[in-house]
Amino acid sequence: MSLKSARHIALEVFEKTLVPGDRAVDATMGRGRDTLALCRLVGETGHVYAFDVQEAALTETRALLEREGMLGRASLHLMGHERMAEAVSEGVKLTAFNLGWLPGSSKGLTTRTDTTLLAVQAAMELLAPGGLISLCCYPGHKEGQRELNALTELAKGLLPQRFTALRHDFLNAGPGAPVAILIEKQ
Ligand SMILES: C[S@@+](CC[C@H](N)C(=O)[O-])C[C@H]1O[C@@H](n2cnc3c(N)ncnc32)[C@H](O)[C@@H]1O
Repeated sequence: MSLKSARHIALEVFEKTLVPGDRAVDATMGRGRDTLALCRLVGETGHVYAFDVQEAALTETRALLEREGMLGRASLHLMGHERMAEAVSEGVKLTAFNLGWLPGSSKGLTTRTDTTLLAVQAAMELLAPGGLISLCCYPGHKEGQRELNALTELAKGLLPQRFTALRHDFLNAGPGAPVAILIEKQ
């Protein structure tokens, strides 16, 4: 286990959770790095459903997956993640959220608390028993702090008979350090 960053924790969770044949969701496709990591782990018999609201994210991710020979393992949706249930059926092993905005793009296109909460609720419904949701949260900006607060409250309120929720904070990394939240379905 690496304690380098919330994103490293997420990548290790992907590796420990997914096996070939699994179905996974990338709720925030961006440049496709997480989509690619998930495609490698679900293998030829698995599938990854990826979502973003920016056409540029789909274009970049499609090109990346094509270069890596992984395009056949993924469906790319130009759709808000809060609508993921329209494209994904139940039995998902892992859903990844890397919140915030695409580095180098408009900060106005950040994920937002209200739609993130809806998406996490949808993802919880779609999870298979034993499946996981991984969230990388960035409280160093105002909407990111709101998002982290709201997700923490949501996670604290989950029935322990149905879900286990864990929050990793980097205690000596200063204010605004990224936080990882994990939610496991019983
Ligand atoms: C930090 S980036 C994701 C980085 C990405 N996982 C990668 O590996 O490159 C966050 C992404 O969330 C997207 N986003 C914002 N609101 C969204 C929504 N409602 N549904 C899906 N994606 C959204 C943004 O367009 C942005 O590309």
